[in-house]
Amino acid sequence: MSDMKYFLMTAVASMALSAAMSAQKAEVPPYLDSSLPIEQRVEDALSRMTLREKIGVLHAQSKFCSRGVPRLGIPELWTTDGPHGIRPEVLWDEWDQAGWTNDSCVAFPALTCLAATWDPEMSRLYGRSIGEEALYRGKDILLGPGVNIYRTPLNGRNFEYMGEDPYLASRMVVPYIQGLQGNGVAACVKHYALNNNEVNRHNTNVIVDDRTLYEIYLPAFKAAVQDGGAWSIMAAYNLYGDEHLCHNRRMLNDILKKEWGFDGAVVSDWGGTHDTRQAIANGLDLEFGSWTNGLSNGKSNAYDSYYLADPYLDLIKKGEVGTDELDDKVRRVLRLMMRTSMADGKGHGALCSDSHYEAARTIGDAGIVLLRNKGNVLPISAAGGKRILVVGENALKMMTVGGGSSSLKVQREMSPFEGISAAAAEAGAIVDFARGYVGDVSGEYNGVVTGQDLSDSRSPEELIAEACAKAKDADYVIFVGGLNKSYGQDCEDSDRAGLGLPYGQDDVIKALAKANPNVVVVNISGNAVAMPWVNSVRGIVQAWFLGSEAGNSIADVIFGKVNPSGKLPFTFPVALGDNSAHALGAYPGVKRPDSPVFDLEYKEGVLVGYRWHDTKKVKPLFAFGHGLSYTSFKLGKLKADRNNISADENVTFSVEVTNTGDVAGAEVVQLYISDAECSVLRPAKELKAFSKVYLEPGESRVVSMKIDRSALSYFDAARHEWVAEPGVFVASVGNASDNIQSTLKFKLE
Ligand code: BGC
Repeated sequence: MSDMKYFLMTAVASMALSAAMSAQKAEVPPYLDSSLPIEQRVEDALSRMTLREKIGVLHAQSKFCSRGVPRLGIPELWTTDGPHGIRPEVLWDEWDQAGWTNDSCVAFPALTCLAATWDPEMSRLYGRSIGEEALYRGKDILLGPGVNIYRTPLNGRNFEYMGEDPYLASRMVVPYIQGLQGNGVAACVKHYALNNNEVNRHNTNVIVDDRTLYEIYLPAFKAAVQDGGAWSIMAAYNLYGDEHLCHNRRMLNDILKKEWGFDGAVVSDWGGTHDTRQAIANGLDLEFGSWTNGLSNGKSNAYDSYYLADPYLDLIKKGEVGTDELDDKVRRVLRLMMRTSMADGKGHGALCSDSHYEAARTIGDAGIVLLRNKGNVLPISAAGGKRILVVGENALKMMTVGGGSSSLKVQREMSPFEGISAAAAEAGAIVDFARGYVGDVSGEYNGVVTGQDLSDSRSPEELIAEACAKAKDADYVIFVGGLNKSYGQDCEDSDRAGLGLPYGQDDVIKALAKANPNVVVVNISGNAVAMPWVNSVRGIVQAWFLGSEAGNSIADVIFGKVNPSGKLPFTFPVALGDNSAHALGAYPGVKRPDSPVFDLEYKEGVLVGYRWHDTKKVKPLFAFGHGLSYTSFKLGKLKADRNNISADENVTFSVEVTNTGDVAGAEVVQLYISDAECSVLRPAKELKAFSKVYLEPGESRVVSMKIDRSALSYFDAARHEWVAEPGVFVASVGNASDNIQSTLKFKLE
């Protein structure tokens, strides 16, 4: 064949191929063409859908998934809990796990631990890693993260949230969402809003003034929407203004959608929808969990009977409601689909990868908080055949099973005892164990069993006697206790009965402290606990629920492989009555006569957490922002780039931080602002900036933190706007809310 002939033949063939390809391309409808803008695709899909198909995408078709539009090739939408790992697959229509063998995950530390890192980059790593696990498991929406403010230490779900401060939670939630959604998996930020305790969660009507709502309870959600770009949000179970939050006109329509411009979908909490007309009119887009037994209980409980299913269709057919709201809801759900299930180029994700274990350990290492370290008992030097006694059920107990919807089925979980033993053995120490107390030996959640046999029939006296006898011969005693994920502790759908440690642990700790001078308490919890023995033990470590790498992270800190740098994201009060909600009797609400509703007034207003302790001068056990290190840091004098600012100017503060000790470590520099001349009651001070810096021994660095007018403002409810009053403000810098090192005054003109 001549070259020319070959050339002509290939040219003709390639022309034919490209004609065929463009013909094929022309057949791709715009809604499936990912090169087109999302809004165009949404409108195109909407225009092709029948009324029934539109209704079909607004409610669940199983426990965790909703229908797509099969006729148009629009796939189902799959959700998953969230927020610490990917929940095991459940049966189509039951909460029980499906019994798959390929759905084990990595458990990341609970969100309280993430918040305690005070490091937005840890949040990004968290979101990215969990998003990869979700993607691998074929999930489109992760039900998390949670940002309900820590109002009372009794809330059984505090461990799933990011602490008591709206600024900290806002800064930490944004990179989580960005990291997660970078995988094409939507965040479903929960539980919007005012779901600050679990007891009576379906029938508590929260009464809160607007100023408190905007200053304390909404900022993290707003940041999630506006800065994080969250694609979905989960509405809460309880009521506000006498309307359930899953169809609450003010919260969903007025604030979320109108004021904040949220363009994603509002997802109901599972079983949080109660009324078709309200759901239509008041901003709910996607209904889940209304009945739990769709298939087995037949038509009356089936998904077609959901509030946003046939009952909605009937109202439209009868002409009682129009289709404007319907199209808005469908657009939002389609937008969510285009961003997730229908997005191109998402990659495949990964499950249980080495890098996910590494991320879990890194975040755990960075979030553990060293609360007390008298005489530098920590880090423990294990060298030279030291004898270490570990005491306590939580040293053994798997904490990834239990706690409610965040319960997981993990591929592996390193217990504190295993982690401590492995690290000690490496250093040549000898480790022994004593049970100390028996807590809750059960280990099952929705069919996932830990397989641990923790039963022990000995009496508390016998257990204490054994622990103390062994403690007398040990160089160090590490007591690992705290709460667990059982009902009534750190667990969904229940609150704690009190601030104290359960199962007689106080007695064990007190006895150990008498038997051995070197007792270190490792408290595993997502909540503050009372510590009546605080001054009789030398070390206290707040270790959270750390997930798969729990034992390794705890050992990293105890033996000094990692220098602790976590800071408390909430206050530890001495007694329950020191917390503002409890001081004012504003928990758990007052039952209305002849009604299931409890009215719960947030009487403390903006004085939540440290805002209360500081303003009312109530000394905490451990303050918000507190956390020690194995090195020491010196903060220099706080400086500002100007001392007079006008309303539209920023001010940049700077302070030099020096690592004055002899190990490397990280310090969190915290900037608080006080309004010294104000016409309304303002908290004594409020966190408005922070920065975590890592320094080698002897190293110094200047940290700069910029604030603008918003950091000086309060929310004026009458004017419905943020107001910064001219006058003097005080900036304070420190490494804990109760350890301010330098202050300066500046003036807003
Ligand atoms: C919880 C949600 C969770 C949902 C699905 C509800 O009980 O409140 O946080 O995402 O169940 O499991």
